[in-house]
Amino acid sequence: MNPITAVIIGAGGRGRIYADYAKKYPQDVKIVGVAEPNEQRRQTLRLEHQIPEEHCFSSYEELFSIPKFADAALICTQDQMHIVPAKQAMELGYHLLLEKPISPSAKECYELAQYAQQQSRHVLVCHVLRYTALFKKVKQLLDSGAIGEMVSMVHCENVGHIHHAHSYVRGNWRSTAESSPMILAKSCHDMDLIYWLVGSPCQQISSFGSLIYFKKSNAPAGAPARCLDGCPHSDTCPYYAPHVYIDGPYDWMRDAICSGICNNPTPEQIIDILKTSPYGRCVFQCDNDVVDHQVVNLSFENGVTVSFTMCAFTSRIERTLKIMGTKGEMRAMMGDGLQGQDIIEIRDFETESSTFYYPTAALGGHGGGDTGIMRDFVRLLRGEQTTSALTDIAVSAESHALAFAAEDSRLSRKTINLNEWKSAI
Ligand SMILES: NC(=O)c1ccc[n+]([C@@H]2O[C@H](COP(=O)([O-])OP(=O)(O)OC[C@H]3O[C@@H](n4cnc5c(N)ncnc54)[C@H](O)[C@@H]3O)[C@@H](O)[C@H]2O)c1
Repeated sequence: MNPITAVIIGAGGRGRIYADYAKKYPQDVKIVGVAEPNEQRRQTLRLEHQIPEEHCFSSYEELFSIPKFADAALICTQDQMHIVPAKQAMELGYHLLLEKPISPSAKECYELAQYAQQQSRHVLVCHVLRYTALFKKVKQLLDSGAIGEMVSMVHCENVGHIHHAHSYVRGNWRSTAESSPMILAKSCHDMDLIYWLVGSPCQQISSFGSLIYFKKSNAPAGAPARCLDGCPHSDTCPYYAPHVYIDGPYDWMRDAICSGICNNPTPEQIIDILKTSPYGRCVFQCDNDVVDHQVVNLSFENGVTVSFTMCAFTSRIERTLKIMGTKGEMRAMMGDGLQGQDIIEIRDFETESSTFYYPTAALGGHGGGDTGIMRDFVRLLRGEQTTSALTDIAVSAESHALAFAAEDSRLSRKTINLNEWKSAI
């Protein structure tokens, strides 16, 4: 069977990940076009995929000004730049792999879902965690009745303090106005998982949270605005930028700060970048406003209750959950690939025994989710059997609604009735 053809809209971090899938599985996908303003990113993709010069554009506006020349568009631009290219692409006849969040506006999320239905286009929103070995196994165990009927769930998103400082203090998702609130930008994945695993409409939601630590009032005495301007705390501050980006274990963070500037940077090049980059700023003196901790309580029509916690102040980047059922209890952990390991324990009430599962994280980032979603997208477009994780944009708009409503609750300090909230948007 021929590979499906795709254009990449935004060849940044995510665009490259999906393009890499095409390199690894050329029988599945061929990248035939790119729209990307950054010359280095655009040229890298052009050379790696031998994209004809006439199909390399410096913006999605230009790419979508010519007739459709691929099966699919992979929309990988930043949070506030999804709706317009998505609509243009669908109008031309492209099916979409669309990065989350659909939009920072709840109304636009529902409108885009409706538009996809009107145009009969496949639109797969990148809730990649659904496609991980771990969460697929969790869902399969729940559906098989391994813990009886679900009663309650406690889900924690442990962001990791260094990750939080990188993405939500210094980086692209630090400002609600420029990207979206934390509960949408980061935790829409968790809202989607909760919605999927509970399998029932949400009735009520309440939320609390704030930005407690990464702010000017917590800057240590004498800390300059940039780490490299002689910070007296360089030996002790965990967020000292050269320490994080040169000595730290997270290659993807290093890649992110150098993306579009150079590949495989030397320590000297990183120092140069940090002198002017937003990632060289003191974490207590940035223009961030998104929360660093938030809790959400949810009740569902089937009687299930869920408590969700997102917190920056964890050592590891991991998700931990406990699901309590009428016949047993499930504990699961999704590790970060560096220290943590994926594990599920089912504790059966009748036998008082435990069964352990170690779902092997398949290839690629997000516990194999990045590969898994691409694989299902290809199957969807070819009309082949997809996995049970696959969902469409209408479902994603519903799970995004939980994030929007949680944020409204946090800001208004009120419990939200979901049906009333929906009829008001
Ligand atoms: N699914 C996930 O797990 C996951 C993880 C991280 C990020 N994301 C989301 O993916 C999206 C992209 O994130 P990223 O980290 O790749 O961002 P990025 O900034 O690295 O990439 C965005 C790219 O879009 C390009 N761009 C800007 N204007 C453009 C235009 N007019 N036409 C075409 N391209 C244009 C930028 O130059 C940049 O290269 C964001 O919405 C983000 O929230 C999803």
